[in-house]
Amino acid sequence: MQLTAEQLETFDKDGYLFFPGQFSPAEAALLKREAEAVYAMERKEVWRESSGVARTAFAAHTYNEGFRRLGAHPRLIEPVEQVLDGPVYMHQYKVNAKAAFDGDVWQWHQDYGTWKRDDEMPEPRAMNIAVFLDDVTAANGPLLFIPGSHKMGVIDAGHDLQTTSYPLWTLDRDKVTELAARGGCVAPTGPAGSMLMFSSLLVHASPANISPLGRIIVYLSLCHVDNHIRAFNREDWIAHRDFTPIKALDDNCLSELMAETV
Ligand code: SIN
Ligand code: MN
Repeated sequence: MQLTAEQLETFDKDGYLFFPGQFSPAEAALLKREAEAVYAMERKEVWRESSGVARTAFAAHTYNEGFRRLGAHPRLIEPVEQVLDGPVYMHQYKVNAKAAFDGDVWQWHQDYGTWKRDDEMPEPRAMNIAVFLDDVTAANGPLLFIPGSHKMGVIDAGHDLQTTSYPLWTLDRDKVTELAARGGCVAPTGPAGSMLMFSSLLVHASPANISPLGRIIVYLSLCHVDNHIRAFNREDWIAHRDFTPIKALDDNCLSELMAETV
């Protein structure tokens, strides 16, 4: 899958692209079942909210076949290779639950802010690409983006070790207010199977989910192979050390798995 010149222009201006319904309802349903199986596991990679429900499962592509295939899916890998202009490896892989009632916030941040400070990733030559496994609505804790904020470089941030169970380099409220006065604040919403690509410099957050509806989103954080991290401060299942270029699978790799498992 290749992006058009118009999509590349929009990405450059806004810092993200939204593709509603990029994966079929059946593909999303398969992965949602796999996510629930992963959340039921007692593994160090599955982080929990204070209530005990899953917050995120790291590195699920290393212990689940559905997520392994998604981690090399051409609809995700090819547009990122195009924008980053070359081969990519998996820097991080998260299946974020944002569980009904208990899913906690993700504070305002830039992903590259954490990758630079914690992992010494040399440049923001890295990208997030996400797939919704539930319908994402205004009600169940959608991602919030500040369009154009990826043009600001790495913004000053403080290391928040308190607000949630996951340490993050977060932006202060004055800065977020200033950026939103310029770019606004949007929440891309859409059906399960929608795909969202966003710059590692884009300022984003998500509110708590007090709705009775879960909101699972899978994130691949892909980095150009030449730009691999230099410091190994975090667990290798959070900031990966395998810098092998990802070879995209066939477009039907998920439907083949469905056929194998019936
Ligand atoms: C993130 O910013 O990495 C995750 C946000 C979310 O899943 O709501
Ligand atoms: Mn993030």
